[in-house]
Amino acid sequence: MSVGQQARADRIRQMFDQVAARYDARNRLFSADRDRAWRRRAAQRAALRPGQTAFDLCTGTGKLAHELLPYVRPSGRVVGIDFAPAMLALARRREPEIEFRLGDITRLDEPDVSVDAVTIGFGLRNLVDRDAALREMFRVLRPGGRLVILEFAPPPRGLLMRAYRFYLSRVMPALAGLLSAGEGSAYRYLAETVEAFPEPAELAHQLETLGFAVTVERMTLGIAALHVAVRRR
Ligand SMILES: C[S@@+](CC[C@H](N)C(=O)[O-])C[C@H]1O[C@@H](n2cnc3c(N)ncnc32)[C@H](O)[C@@H]1O
Repeated sequence: MSVGQQARADRIRQMFDQVAARYDARNRLFSADRDRAWRRRAAQRAALRPGQTAFDLCTGTGKLAHELLPYVRPSGRVVGIDFAPAMLALARRREPEIEFRLGDITRLDEPDVSVDAVTIGFGLRNLVDRDAALREMFRVLRPGGRLVILEFAPPPRGLLMRAYRFYLSRVMPALAGLLSAGEGSAYRYLAETVEAFPEPAELAHQLETLGFAVTVERMTLGIAALHVAVRRR
């Protein structure tokens, strides 16, 4: 990673550490409570069975990892990884059954072809080196294993989406700034990264090039997308 990339990653980590205490409540508020249903759907699409191993990357406060747990119980395991200590501290407090590791997901410790499913919820958009992370996800998955990516999609065109764009880029940052001093910038960052993120078809193509078979599902008028990518070989 270059010095510039490292500096950007440090800023992202600091931002998440700063918002950690309010992160879950803000998600609920700004998504009108849809975020829980999105994570549940993502966990279901991982198609895990009892005894299997799942990795939830960019796990944050552990909410998606938590949704995976019922599928692998009683003998399987869920591991959550994140590089922001304050987010992980909340995750550990919530779910002692899950192993939460502090680490950078662009460099996983796990051996090749050792994991049954990898999930990443609202994390891919935040990565400084997305390509390196996707290669790591492919590497650790066994053939037939699934990568499930839950992410905001760039809003489709249309009148309703013009209103959504206004909400995302103006209303949310203003409201967040009012609720807590300094938080507005975190939500401006959110709006910028959502707009800059690849269209679902483009991300699907990138995953296919890596060796995945991909299906895409758009949710809630297309503002969130699920990519389900099965490792081919
Ligand atoms: C928007 S939060 C998503 C948290 C959680 N997955 C959810 O569904 O709410 C993004 C998380 O990605 C983490 N993150 C960003 N880049 C990372 C990296 N390279 N390695 C590990 N964690 C990273 C941040 O610390 C943050 O907790």
